[in-house]
Amino acid sequence: MLRKLMLLPLLAVLSLGGAAAGAADFSTHKSAVIFYSLLHNREGGDAWEQSHPVGNTEIIADLIVKQTGADKFSLVQAQPYSNDYDEVTDLARTEQEEQVRPALKEVPDLSAYDVVFVGFPCWWGSYPMAFATYFETGALKGKTVVPFTTHMGSRFGHALTDLENALPDSTITDGLAIRGSDVSDSDTAEQVTEFLQDLQL
Ligand SMILES: Cc1cc2nc3c(=O)[nH]c(=O)nc-3n(C[C@H](O)[C@H](O)[C@H](O)COP(=O)(O)O)c2cc1C
Repeated sequence: MLRKLMLLPLLAVLSLGGAAAGAADFSTHKSAVIFYSLLHNREGGDAWEQSHPVGNTEIIADLIVKQTGADKFSLVQAQPYSNDYDEVTDLARTEQEEQVRPALKEVPDLSAYDVVFVGFPCWWGSYPMAFATYFETGALKGKTVVPFTTHMGSRFGHALTDLENALPDSTITDGLAIRGSDVSDSDTAEQVTEFLQDLQL
């Protein structure tokens, strides 16, 4: 009898298909991932690009797509940065200080989605200014926004506060920050799974 009672919690978990009670159920949402990676926003064709065929943030975007069935969009600005990393970092800093709004190659239409994962590399403690341009289009109004970032040590920096200010009409959930050097580690996919399971949508 005691053994039967001990089995009950296990059976309850199995009947939920292994998902923790209260875990986010993506089948009841229409989800999209929109991400920015430098790789899609710089002049290409050099050796660096050949050795890094996918940007860090896109690697996390792909894990989210794989685990949620979300549709994927890349945010691309009209004018790409140069291939010179130092030049890019200097220019990006100036753009942030001056609150520049880079023109976008196109404005992804996410009107059909209610949950939008927004992924960016941490740039000078925030998101690349191309996202500032995108947020100002109002495309994420009324949506649940799930932020994620890749970084070299700053995690989100002040990006979450910036997001709240830029998206007052969106619901912003907890975010996921992954160090750029860890994106391809075997336990990163697991970290993404745990993050998705814990999301309150
Ligand atoms: C312009 C620029 C600014 C950056 N600023 C920061 C920063 O403030 N903090 C940090 O931890 N990493 C910073 N990084 C590193 C990137 O966040 C990190 O390499 C990221 O994983 C790159 O993602 P991607 O390959 O998708 O572009 C910066 C990189 C660039 C190019």
